[in-house]
Amino acid sequence: MLQCRNLGAAYGDIVALRGIDLEVHTGEAVALIGVNGAGKTTLLRAISGLLPTTGELAYDGRPLDTLPIQRRVKAGIAHVPEGRRIFPGLTVKENLEVGSSVRGRGTSDDFERVYDLFPRLKERIGQLGWSLSGGEQQMLAIGRALMARPRLLLLDEPSLGLAPRLAEEVYARIACINEGGMTVLLVEQNTVLALGVANRGYVIENGSIVLTDTAEALRLHPRVRDAYLGR
Ligand SMILES: Nc1ncnc2c1ncn2[C@@H]1O[C@H](COP(=O)(O)OP(=O)(O)OP(=O)(O)O)[C@@H](O)[C@H]1O
Ligand SMILES: [Mg+2]
Repeated sequence: MLQCRNLGAAYGDIVALRGIDLEVHTGEAVALIGVNGAGKTTLLRAISGLLPTTGELAYDGRPLDTLPIQRRVKAGIAHVPEGRRIFPGLTVKENLEVGSSVRGRGTSDDFERVYDLFPRLKERIGQLGWSLSGGEQQMLAIGRALMARPRLLLLDEPSLGLAPRLAEEVYARIACINEGGMTVLLVEQNTVLALGVANRGYVIENGSIVLTDTAEALRLHPRVRDAYLGR
């Protein structure tokens, strides 16, 4: 579904990604793990069109790098950014409506699907974004992305700032979303959670992929164990 070949990206003179080879197949959940500043967010921003790239970037076998952001959204790529970025002055329902606006109005089925996944959002349907807890905001950010009926969901550190139990809850929902057939590319510092839902993973260091394998093999890999699993 998604293919990066020798992908590069820079912020002015600062090279943030170089020589990235990465693939995501239809139906997979793929994890990209790495420490602060490794380039995880940059890669997601490059895929969703927030940053110009060099090299090859393809989606469904067609070049993606020439498409502007809105066309990428229409093609089914949804990005849940780092730090959630929900609209603080809008209610839960209004935030979800913004998510569906790329296709027109959200249908009741779209809302029900999100509420089935995150019953808490239904209970807080009229509550303003700013007043939600961190975990609820993360659920809303994911729900808002789903309202666009994406085919590829990009998630940037969905566990960030959440207490362990809440992070696990959010990850259980991500697993459900993937099991329902949605393709997922997620970036995380929480390696345990990320490799728990992913089929495959990539390790990124200093803007380059240094390791890729099945999630199972990565969990056992000495480099991952020592540097990312803290054992
Ligand atoms: N807007 C920007 N301008 C200049 N440099 C940037 C910008 N955003 C990121 N960088 C640099 O690019 C590199 C990769 O940053 P990126 O945000 O992709 O890392 P990350 O892996 O997502 O880190 P974190 O885990 O802290 O979110 C870092 O060296 C960072 O300082
Ligand atoms: Mg980041």
